[in-house]
Amino acid sequence: MSQAPINPATALWPNDGLTRVPYALYDDQEIYDRERQRLFMGPTWNVLGLECEIPNPGDYKTTFLGDVPVVLVRGKDGSLKGFENRCAHRGALLCLERFGNAKAFTCIYHAWSYDHDGNLTGVAFQNGVKGEGGMPDDFRREDHGLRRLKVAALAGLVFGSFDARVPPLEEYLGPEIVQRIRRVLPRPVKVLGYYTQTLRNNWKLYFENVKDPYHASILHLFFTTFRVNRLSQTGGIIVDDSGGHHVSYSKLDDQPEQKGDDRDYEAAILRADHDDFGLKEPALLGGRDEFGDGITLQILTVFPNLVLQQVRNNLVMRQIVPRGVDQTDLVWINYGFEDDDEDLADLRLLQSNFIGPAGYISMEDGAVGDFIQRALPGTVGDTSIVMMGGDEAASSASRATETSIRGFWKAYRKVMNI
Ligand code: FES
Ligand SMILES: [Fe+2]
Repeated sequence: MSQAPINPATALWPNDGLTRVPYALYDDQEIYDRERQRLFMGPTWNVLGLECEIPNPGDYKTTFLGDVPVVLVRGKDGSLKGFENRCAHRGALLCLERFGNAKAFTCIYHAWSYDHDGNLTGVAFQNGVKGEGGMPDDFRREDHGLRRLKVAALAGLVFGSFDARVPPLEEYLGPEIVQRIRRVLPRPVKVLGYYTQTLRNNWKLYFENVKDPYHASILHLFFTTFRVNRLSQTGGIIVDDSGGHHVSYSKLDDQPEQKGDDRDYEAAILRADHDDFGLKEPALLGGRDEFGDGITLQILTVFPNLVLQQVRNNLVMRQIVPRGVDQTDLVWINYGFEDDDEDLADLRLLQSNFIGPAGYISMEDGAVGDFIQRALPGTVGDTSIVMMGGDEAASSASRATETSIRGFWKAYRKVMNI
């Protein structure tokens, strides 16, 4: 793998710190290609889905690791396996369905077939037809298996890596992130539904957005109007040692706020700050303290492509899939637990209106990344500013900080060697 510095990003990164980010990183094909090679296909764990999506032997799911198509499959022995979804013969997509069950995978083009481990087990006409043609005598099927993934699971979340050097999953995540993942995945999981959303921006702009608590109560009218999330609430930010993973959490205050309680919000004169609205369906903001700790909002990220979200009782796994320099697919998986009672299952679905492409809270996030991407052409040599809360990438009791964005760049620069 090349260690050579590349332009223009290296040349443009203004100093060793994390408070200035070159805009060139969001629309450069060379950077994008390097991300595929060093970051997504490098020593990182990429979320691929939930174990409960493929419960039985032979069940499979097609998805992406970075922008590389992959298949996740449950073997006969119940173990999880994965491989690149690309036939070793002429490179056709091997598996075309989103989900299914298969004893073997047979390519539609010339019928080469593979087992659950990605071994090549059959080649049509290997010995020719009527004694003529066929593969050379020294052709060995063992030499032409599919490129395999390392696969590991934690609390029902499944991760994959193309790089054998990747550290064990729990070591990669660190204890605080592991604990916060387990917090929202304490029992067997059930999928409630999916959305896939196309974002017209570079994947990193979305990952930064999720790590940015500064914008949430300002951009999202709904959050602040109905006091789902204000920076004045009790909460904090955890950033792991690598910088790449984070948790932002807060508790909804039990007591309705009095006028004057939140002077910093009043002083900022935010377009979102009104107290003359009410909801006709108050159950939307109701909820159960199902994890017993009073935390009503937890946003967790794992570098480079997982967002795990709790907004009240709405629980979601989001997978970030880059689709080119300026396009990203965001896959949302709404989940609950197998033992949810009917009221709780209904509440999760009601509260799923918060999120997704047209969610009361999250629809603006689909727009701002696009706003940044559209303004990139004039940014040559320029940088954005990430100074809120200092220049560190460390945990913080305040959420008026961009520390977790700085953490992202710390991890990114290390793996990308820029
Ligand atoms: S491309 Fe798959 S068998 Fe030929
Ligand atoms: Fe947001």
